[in-house]
Amino acid sequence: MSQNVRKEEAARAALNHILPELSPDSILGIGTGSTVNFLIEALGEVKNRFAGAVSSSKATTERLERKGIEVFDLNTVEPPRFYIDGADEANERLELIKGGGGALTREKILAAASETFICIIDESKHVGILGKFPLPIEVIPMARSYVSRQITKMGGDPAYRAGVTTDNGNIIIDIHNMDIGRPIRIEEQLNQLPGLVTNGLFARRPADILFMATSEGVKEFRRPSSTD
Ligand code: 5RP
Repeated sequence: MSQNVRKEEAARAALNHILPELSPDSILGIGTGSTVNFLIEALGEVKNRFAGAVSSSKATTERLERKGIEVFDLNTVEPPRFYIDGADEANERLELIKGGGGALTREKILAAASETFICIIDESKHVGILGKFPLPIEVIPMARSYVSRQITKMGGDPAYRAGVTTDNGNIIIDIHNMDIGRPIRIEEQLNQLPGLVTNGLFARRPADILFMATSEGVKEFRRPSSTD
């Protein structure tokens, strides 16, 4: 079965999970990426059952609006009941690497602001230890060299993602070969670097629920209590 079919299955599982809780004033937080795009398609079919969405990227906003789903400014609405998004990697603690699509900053804001963060992936994203997928960081352009040097000191190999400007006008650096055995600690260390806007580790605020589409159907995982 193709990876796209799996992505769609995970998206449908998330929709089925939230549907009973939707009301005409519900606002949903919506992530970015090809898995979420299947969710947006499905949401279009039930758009009369909720008020609208807050969006993690310009690309997602455009897709939502094409489906006739109203997009709100996060500052003007109550905290979303659900935030639904994909990931580049997820471990068994539901800690994630995100930002493959470069939308990590707004994604992290929505994950933090929302009551329940539901992550949707196909099984290729499931890992024992995070870090095979290069860890994206969003960086203020003038801090590119400084931040890259600090990353090298931390043991990572920084690679500038050429030609990419984020929705916030910044650049992306992908960190290869970083030891992410302790994701919360690395996330906090990276958070200290001036000029680094957001790192793609979602460990301090992991997902609450993970729907992972596998060859045996969609599996649901819940976040264990956190201890680093
Ligand atoms: C975008 C992200 C995406 O959630 C992540 O890259 C997964 O994307 P896809 O669903 O296309 O595999 O973090 O910044």
